[in-house]
Amino acid sequence: MNILGINAYHGNASAAIVCDGKLIAAVEEERFNRVKYAAGFPSAAIHYCLKEAGITLSDIDHVAVPRNPYARLGTKLWYAMRMPSFARERAKVMAKFTGISEALAAAFESDPGKIRAAFHRVEHHQAHLASSFFVSPFEDAALLSADGLGDFASSMWGVGRGNRMEIESSIAFPHSLGLYYSAVTQYLGFLKFGDEYKVMGLAAYGSPENMEAFRDIVRFSSNGGEFGFRLGLDYFTHHRTGPEMSWAESGKTPVLGKMYSAAMGERLGGPARRPEEPLEQRHRNLAASLQARLEEVYLGMLKKLAAKTKVNSVCLAGGVAFNCVANGKLFDQTPFEKVYVHPAAGDAGLAVGAAFYVWHQTLGKPRSFVMDHAYWGPGYTGQEIRAAIQSSPISNGGYTVNDLDDVQLMRRTAAIIAEGKILGWYQGRAEWGPRALGNRSIVADPRRPEMKEILNERIKHREIFRPFAPSILAEKTGEWFDKSHPSPFMTLAYTVRPEKRDKIPAPTHVDGTGRLQTVTPEANGRYHALISEFERQTGVPVVLNTSFNDNEPIVCRPQEALDCFLRTKMDALVLGNLLITRP
Ligand SMILES: [Fe+2]
Repeated sequence: MNILGINAYHGNASAAIVCDGKLIAAVEEERFNRVKYAAGFPSAAIHYCLKEAGITLSDIDHVAVPRNPYARLGTKLWYAMRMPSFARERAKVMAKFTGISEALAAAFESDPGKIRAAFHRVEHHQAHLASSFFVSPFEDAALLSADGLGDFASSMWGVGRGNRMEIESSIAFPHSLGLYYSAVTQYLGFLKFGDEYKVMGLAAYGSPENMEAFRDIVRFSSNGGEFGFRLGLDYFTHHRTGPEMSWAESGKTPVLGKMYSAAMGERLGGPARRPEEPLEQRHRNLAASLQARLEEVYLGMLKKLAAKTKVNSVCLAGGVAFNCVANGKLFDQTPFEKVYVHPAAGDAGLAVGAAFYVWHQTLGKPRSFVMDHAYWGPGYTGQEIRAAIQSSPISNGGYTVNDLDDVQLMRRTAAIIAEGKILGWYQGRAEWGPRALGNRSIVADPRRPEMKEILNERIKHREIFRPFAPSILAEKTGEWFDKSHPSPFMTLAYTVRPEKRDKIPAPTHVDGTGRLQTVTPEANGRYHALISEFERQTGVPVVLNTSFNDNEPIVCRPQEALDCFLRTKMDALVLGNLLITRP
């Protein structure tokens, strides 16, 4: 039985295919159309998923869409009456949803009559919860989803047992931890969609001196259930104007309108920072306070969820679940002992969640799949890689291309990293979700304190306050970090052991933490072999890992890897077993 999950007309448009209860492929549309966080209809992603599964449009039995227009209809109507322009925008998006079968047929230049699949609408947050629980290794788990907004809710929680989820409650618009973080992110001068993680990095440079204000901006409240919180709405505008989000346009990065009010500035001690203005200590302290208040509320909810469900495992999803700093603290601040965070915890993951929701919750099928790695995107053959090199300037520009066996490849490559050079590492199938996890990665020496500046100057061009991440051999995690619970998808930040900090200064953040990836031979044998060889040569079982891109979606095809290599000042590139070095 084939189930196609589609996240369409929403940020991070994506598709996933589940065949007989096993995930076969999942990918974001941005990897194909090269537009970051692309919304619209994910035609290329769907094409790829069907090709990977070896099926055609008429072989699909079910299509799962993570949007239910009937969820919270009363709340929606109440706000629609007060915010006509917001209602009009939503109506436009909804009209597109009713034509999703036609859009699917059009993407394949087919007749809608040939689609025999049953269509299912899965509520946004139920799809988030399903994306995490149904692919987790846990038989029983507490579930929490938290994001900006989806189907007029911002958080949902419950418990999963076997092949069923029971929803306990949710928090509805306008109260939202995601919109809270986005609004203050905007106030601090970071206006682009998806900039919240920059502010999370900035927070480590400040001290939370504004907690009184932030406890007024987000308040604990029994309203919305016993885990509830409410926003101090005077500080926001989205409940009056509607969150101005443009989702519907195909192939565009979503745009978020201004969400904080003048009262926010009055309470936080000054006008909003303009993007071109310098960052001052005040801004860093505000970022630290924003983060600290998020942690209080988020971890507070998790604590209560643990007490209520009495299970020791938790599954997380939704954009807020990308807050690796908060996630890393849950072992110390809540009773949970195990956690699973979906690698595409944001809205891309809804495609997987909706598909598994239909398989388990709707059709009642038993569990038979665990997502223990993230390599569900496109892969390319050696022949395709060679063809890409042939048609690139590399074939006639004096570059050296060496075809090495595995042992030689690891030796040479680890030596290149140890010499302080910057390496592009392109292997196998692309990662699902926003983190490069050793198949589309740029890898560098973690021992060199200057490596962060070098990477920024030569390749990444990012804000200097943003940290780079470590990949570590999973079996060595406890020797280098204060915790050893697996973090295969870089969704947890742990404290680097004090005696190890000067050994891996480049991926250790200013507060002594690292947003680590734990690498096992089962999940990624080649990456594990590379880090093992680096350890053999240097004594350090860690490499610095950043995504293979330069202000663009992560590279997908070999052509994009070659372009990025040529465009930037990367020293060497490995594509499969081919090592390319500059003249
Ligand atoms: Fe969401």
